[in-house]
Amino acid sequence: MASGFSSSWLIFIIIFFSFLVFLCAADQDRVTSTSRKLLQHHHHNNDHENNNMDPSQKIFFTIDNLKKGKSMEIYLSPKSPSSSLKSKSTTRLLSREEADSIPFTSSNLSSILQLFSISKESPQAQAMNDTLKLCELEPIHGETKHCATSFESMLDFTRGILGLDTKLRVLSTSFVENPSTKPYLRNYTVVEDPREIFAPKMVACHSMPYPHAVFYCHSQEGENRVFEISLEVGGGGERVEAVGVCHADTSHWDRDHVSFRVLNIEPGTLPVCHVFPPDNFVWVPAYFEIN
Ligand SMILES: *[C@@H]1O[C@H](CO)[C@@H](O)[C@H](O)[C@H]1NC(C)=O
Ligand SMILES: *[C@@H]1O[C@H](CO)[C@@H](O)[C@H](O)[C@H]1NC(C)=O
Ligand SMILES: *[C@@H]1O[C@H](CO)[C@@H](O)[C@H](O)[C@H]1NC(C)=O
Repeated sequence: MASGFSSSWLIFIIIFFSFLVFLCAADQDRVTSTSRKLLQHHHHNNDHENNNMDPSQKIFFTIDNLKKGKSMEIYLSPKSPSSSLKSKSTTRLLSREEADSIPFTSSNLSSILQLFSISKESPQAQAMNDTLKLCELEPIHGETKHCATSFESMLDFTRGILGLDTKLRVLSTSFVENPSTKPYLRNYTVVEDPREIFAPKMVACHSMPYPHAVFYCHSQEGENRVFEISLEVGGGGERVEAVGVCHADTSHWDRDHVSFRVLNIEPGTLPVCHVFPPDNFVWVPAYFEIN
């Protein structure tokens, strides 16, 4: 038991840190805007001015697409080594002690901006304000949420949902061959029948724009089916092992949610599925032993 526990910890830590390296290299704006699209099923869309379909909204599909041979148009932004050169900011993960020593509320925004030497008028300041406001919103019906500013805090929240004694497994989308170059919107073919992961409960953690790593983690009551989906761009191009989820009940979702527009359906009619961008984590119970 003890050794199983510590080796699974080690795996999480390795995955987590490789992931952080990725985060630093990622095309932050796009990646996080995709995370924000996902959260709009909970809250009012603040992108109303943007009426044209933004390609990064194309992450939704229906359960009929989850079959070998099906093709779907999906936006997936991979790690992009060149973007890390362009971007001066890296997303640092804080320890719990560091995170707890920095205010994390919108009422403290001006002192937070000073601390990170960010100008009040800058787009970064706006993005930080948006992140804080999103974190402060009341959860919607059936949702349990927490914005984690450290790995420890993410694990505590996840354990609180999945069970203190439950072994955890973490899933994320990864590019396995020929990571994409722009444009990131592609027609992907499902190359194998998707594998469903048995997950009576799950916690999804979406990375948010902020000067240090912040994850909006949440769990939603109701039937959610988790899948591993092998995708390929035609002609032996890019290959992605994507993690996707299908939400059976969308009747509580905001009518304006982008997925209804993308799929051209009404709330509560069909399950809505989406892939997770590569900088998101999906925590599920581990139903296998690691020795
Ligand atoms: C954060 O805001 C609270 C009230 O909203 C205030 O009491 C506190 O001093 C502020 N902390 C910092 C570091 O500005
Ligand atoms: C933060 O956003 C809210 C709206 O969500 C706005 O009312 C407020 O003025 C913004 N604050 C700053 C400092 O930009
Ligand atoms: C995907 O395929 C459809 C149908 O063939 C086509 O209309 C669409 O432009 C393609 N999208 C991309 C991004 O290539």
